[in-house]
Amino acid sequence: MGWLTEKRASLAKSGPSGSVDMSATVGSVELGSPVMAASGTAGHSVELDAYFDLREAGAIVVKSLLCEPWEGNPAPRVHSTDAGMINSVGLQGPGVQGWIDHDLDPLITSGANIVVSIWGRSVDEYRIAAEMLAPVQGYLTAVEVNVSCPNVEDRDRMFAHSVEGTHDAIAATAVVDVPRWAKLSPNIADLVPIADAAQRGGAEAVTIANTLIGLAIDPETRKPRLGKGRGGLSGPAIRPVAVRAVNDVATALPDLPVIGCGGIVHGVDAIEFLLAGACAVQVGTATFADPRAVVRIRAEIEQWCELHNVAEMRSLVGALET
Ligand SMILES: Cc1cc2nc3c(=O)[nH]c(=O)nc-3n(C[C@H](O)[C@H](O)[C@H](O)COP(=O)(O)O)c2cc1C
Repeated sequence: MGWLTEKRASLAKSGPSGSVDMSATVGSVELGSPVMAASGTAGHSVELDAYFDLREAGAIVVKSLLCEPWEGNPAPRVHSTDAGMINSVGLQGPGVQGWIDHDLDPLITSGANIVVSIWGRSVDEYRIAAEMLAPVQGYLTAVEVNVSCPNVEDRDRMFAHSVEGTHDAIAATAVVDVPRWAKLSPNIADLVPIADAAQRGGAEAVTIANTLIGLAIDPETRKPRLGKGRGGLSGPAIRPVAVRAVNDVATALPDLPVIGCGGIVHGVDAIEFLLAGACAVQVGTATFADPRAVVRIRAEIEQWCELHNVAEMRSLVGALET
């Protein structure tokens, strides 16, 4: 993962002085840091605790949970690509109840802001997952509804590729009384109607974006490199796509908070998302190469703000000049 270290090392030489207001607002949620750990890349619980105090992250977004345990896809599940990786983990997880029974307590003890990601194969499964979370909602900062997965009731078309699918899946989760964020897919030309549907369904914010669908082939075997065949591309390779998608939605729907995600490795990458209109960001793939990425990137944003006389990180939000 040479892309992690190849550039901008100078920013990391000295730490920030703490003079910048780094707080972020996502709808009704106030965060001490704008940098969260993205779903699927920070485990289900306190896996990153060995590397940093989880309270230093804006939030830990746990890997997406189904209403029942789910075994995921066949191996191999990950493959390194130029400037990123492609994965077909397939949303493996213990299910909502298994997570509540085994993973929630350590997260509560850590003091982290907990965002639970849920998914379903049908609208009803979204509803059930949300119902299961309701008894523990007092511990949750938000629920991120991952609609970037196949809808078995609609020809396996992704929920997030359909206005109705997105609206109905989000609306079905209203039973859990915490802010709900919709995690959208970048695999669609115009995200604005989808983001609008998420908002109408009750999402307080949207996370843009999940992975881009890709296919990596081993020329020697002439077979796909991943057990499932296709997979999701992530890392720096997708950043310009995600930044553009954030900007599309933030411009068209100024009242809908957007969380930017896709290829953030350094503080300046996050600044791109903020300028494009994101009020906070999530970091995924970079965490695999550097488990402290979430807090390092926060420090780099702060340092960048100091260097550019920016007293409040939030003043960068949507400040793109065209
Ligand atoms: C191995 C892996 C597993 C992931 N699992 C999930 C998941 O369970 N739920 C989800 O919403 N996104 C999942 N994602 C997508 C990330 O949260 C993120 O949206 C995407 O990777 C783009 O950000 P990045 O380039 O910083 O990784 C996963 C990504 C990777 C690389």
